[in-house]
Amino acid sequence: MTNSRTISQIIEPQYVIEGAGVLLRRSIAPHKSNLFDPFLLFDHFAFNDPVEGPIRGFPMHPHRGIETVTYMLEGSTAHRDSLGNSGLIGPGDVQWMTSGRGILHEEMPRRGPSGNIYGFQLWVNLPSHLKMTEPRYQEVNAATIPTYEKDGIKIRVVAGQVNGVVGPVTEIAASPLYLDVELAADNEWTQPIEAGHTAIAYVFEGEGVFGDQTVESVRMIKFSDGDHLRVKTENSSVRFMLMAGAPFKEPIAPYGPFVMNTMEEIQQTLIELRNGTFIK
Ligand code: FE2
Repeated sequence: MTNSRTISQIIEPQYVIEGAGVLLRRSIAPHKSNLFDPFLLFDHFAFNDPVEGPIRGFPMHPHRGIETVTYMLEGSTAHRDSLGNSGLIGPGDVQWMTSGRGILHEEMPRRGPSGNIYGFQLWVNLPSHLKMTEPRYQEVNAATIPTYEKDGIKIRVVAGQVNGVVGPVTEIAASPLYLDVELAADNEWTQPIEAGHTAIAYVFEGEGVFGDQTVESVRMIKFSDGDHLRVKTENSSVRFMLMAGAPFKEPIAPYGPFVMNTMEEIQQTLIELRNGTFIK
């Protein structure tokens, strides 16, 4: 490994209202400039104040052409879709949903015993030849997500691998690395990341030195190209989601919950929704 990745951009998440009135911290959003290819969106939902009242969630809505990845740390998300699937994504669980040609689903966050809801949703693009593929779920229970642990380093491996520990989510077009990384204070960790892949990290607790620059939570980082990433901690611990994947280098046409390659495909999607042929 010779070429260490450095920080090319630091993004401060912005508060947005989504669904039926859910306040989120959004750090990247679908845009035709496709700057984070293959990643499209990253949302962080954190509720811990009972005065917020009932969480209204995300009532029935469609998706086409993307994958949505829900990772919960506290509380849960009740899920139900047009194909007859339903379930609860609990603390530590992951749902990797490949919408392909289309699903309609409902996602309703629920508070955990402490009253908190804390989790992330990542959108990953699909290449043109898979945008109309059959919908598919990979639902992974917390207990079956392997953890790499060594001297103040704790990494839950959802997809990809860390020192031979392989994540349970496989056969994803973007060949992703998706990790939940915790480093104790005064520690160091190096992870190979394939050169040419896009790499981003969402720092949500503490602070760390990424490449040669200190970043405090809460921030999204985009890294330069390279074949590995080095992260150090000094006085503080740090926790972050690390995501990397192969860019598809195709034009994208984002429209709400759909991301296709052309506006014609978006128009076709809207016609199918109107005339009731969206779900095959
Ligand atoms: Fe959704």
